[in-house]
Amino acid sequence: MGKRTTIGILTSGGDCPGLNAAIRGVVKAACSVGDARIVGIADGYRGLIEGRAREIDAEEASGLLTRGGTILGASREKPFEARDYGEPTDSEVGLGKPEAIKENYRLLGLDCLVTLGGNGTNTTAARLQEEGLDVVGLPKTIDNDIWGTDVSFGFHSAVDIATEAIDRLHSTALSHNRIMVIELMGHKAGWLALYAGIAGGGDVVLLPEIPYEIDAIARHLARRAATGKRFSIVVVAEGAMSAEESLLDKRARKARRAAMPYPSIGYRVAAEIVEATGMEARVTVLGYLQRGGVPSAYDRVLSTAFGTAAAELVFSRRFGRMVAWRGDGIDSVRLDKVAGKTKRVPGGHEFIGVARLMGTCLGDE
Ligand code: F6P
Repeated sequence: MGKRTTIGILTSGGDCPGLNAAIRGVVKAACSVGDARIVGIADGYRGLIEGRAREIDAEEASGLLTRGGTILGASREKPFEARDYGEPTDSEVGLGKPEAIKENYRLLGLDCLVTLGGNGTNTTAARLQEEGLDVVGLPKTIDNDIWGTDVSFGFHSAVDIATEAIDRLHSTALSHNRIMVIELMGHKAGWLALYAGIAGGGDVVLLPEIPYEIDAIARHLARRAATGKRFSIVVVAEGAMSAEESLLDKRARKARRAAMPYPSIGYRVAAEIVEATGMEARVTVLGYLQRGGVPSAYDRVLSTAFGTAAAELVFSRRFGRMVAWRGDGIDSVRLDKVAGKTKRVPGGHEFIGVARLMGTCLGDE
């Protein structure tokens, strides 16, 4: 009989629907493909630095398919970055963070590590692979901005949630002849705003990738009003920016934003619309509702498939890779290719064209 394989698993970065379903996929498939012992690491990389972990068996993995959040806990720990989030310092831990991770990997008897997370998580995973650990990544984020995979789990659940919110806003927009601004997540990439904007029939959709001119938005709203539609839905990604701001570097843009009296971009766009059109506007910031609760059917399938693919990579000893969906099937890409990149919405994306053909204002014309 071959040696038992000990697989460490952690969830890192913001939580999202489908994390537990993916954990279940990894555990069940690993136990059916080979002889596996699964060690669940608490709170992402922070737990690995601190050596907080426990065994998870197939029984515990049962019943997780529909559960939101992550049974393992998550953190935004980035062990290779100097910046920290209030976690114990290197001297409290006793070793530098990467060294502590390597030491605990050894002490926990891990043969490999499966990491579930977004861009930061994959970048760290690539570094750990470089440092000699054996790592497999799974792409998770509601932002869908991970390079190398067409889709990440969590994204479609968030699109469904955001679409339902936009549907519900429509009734008040219509009843009161108001402009309803809804701010969705997506700092660097506007996938969520684009998909939910199309699915919810948004009249204006603002993405980080397409800087907006308030005059273009005002003209669009005025044209709608002239056809008798005095209500509009304006979908704003949290990373949306004006054309003027897009010329600034990140630091200058941040400073400019901080000096403004608005809690977030949705409020600012609403105030700019009121000023430019005299129309009545209201703001909804959907926030963490987009990350909570049960995964959609699509994400249950994707998370399960990704989890099983991770187990297969482990048993075929193909480490240093991230599971991906490419074209019409499961694939994998090298973690060092994924590291440090962000998949943004390309200007020529099919759905940008669809939105424009539907008469949706993307803020630029
Ligand atoms: O997971 C990515 C994300 O959803 C971003 O769109 C958002 O800006 C961020 O999480 C906020 O998360 P937190 O407040 O948990 O850091």
